[in-house]
Amino acid sequence: MIIAVDGPAASGKGTIAKALARHYNLPHLDTGLLYRAVAATVRRLELDPSKEADAVAACGFDELTLADPVLRSDEIGQLASVVSAHPLVRAALLQRQKRFAHQEGGAILDGRDIGTVIAPDADAKLFVKATPQVRARRRHNELQARGSSLSFDRVLADIRARDQRDSARSTAPLIQAADAATLDTSFLSIDASVNKAIEIVEARVALKRRG
Ligand code: CDP
Ligand code: CDP
Repeated sequence: MIIAVDGPAASGKGTIAKALARHYNLPHLDTGLLYRAVAATVRRLELDPSKEADAVAACGFDELTLADPVLRSDEIGQLASVVSAHPLVRAALLQRQKRFAHQEGGAILDGRDIGTVIAPDADAKLFVKATPQVRARRRHNELQARGSSLSFDRVLADIRARDQRDSARSTAPLIQAADAATLDTSFLSIDASVNKAIEIVEARVALKRRG
């Protein structure tokens, strides 16, 4: 079983994907981390994120980078959405994600283009969303817990800028796959979001079985 979970920043897709992975005992890949690792490498090597060749050079990042807590910063998130707009960066990371999705026994991936590009053949697709205010509140809380002093307004502005960049790019933009179920978490607790996600997956799988 392949499960695709897509959505904008702080919509809850990572939390939902991890919970689904536990529920179905499937391996999980947070694909945003790959783009964040490219961004962190661009910064470490003092490359220019707006230059495609520079960003491509950072795609051979050290695997240890994936565990670096700095990847979770707001700054790296912004930089990730700059480097991820380059078609050659997406191409460099494509096979790794496709292989993960199509491994024996199935997988669950979360990101922006899982249902549209990485696994258009997924058995269940979720598009997780929430209002920009709710998402900014969640991200602001997370960043504060990690010691960041960024204001709520700044986090909201950054989320809006990232939504805009991710949706406007020509290669693999953030769009809902035609066959993805919408899950709006704006007014749902984490538990309620996860339960709803499981319900959606069960319904999709039952529908598939019936052919
Ligand atoms: O967790 P959050 O939604 O804030 O960010 P993320 O999923 O870690 O993604 C960081 C950035 O990587 C996004 O803003 C996108 O620009 C990019 N990304 C992408 O282009 N495609 C994906 N499948 C995943 C992330
Ligand atoms: O992966 P993505 O950036 O879409 O979001 P996330 O990391 O799963 O969730 C962002 C934050 O919102 C986390 O701190 C979650 O615990 C929280 N969250 C929430 O408060 N209510 C939900 N229904 C879902 C997530």
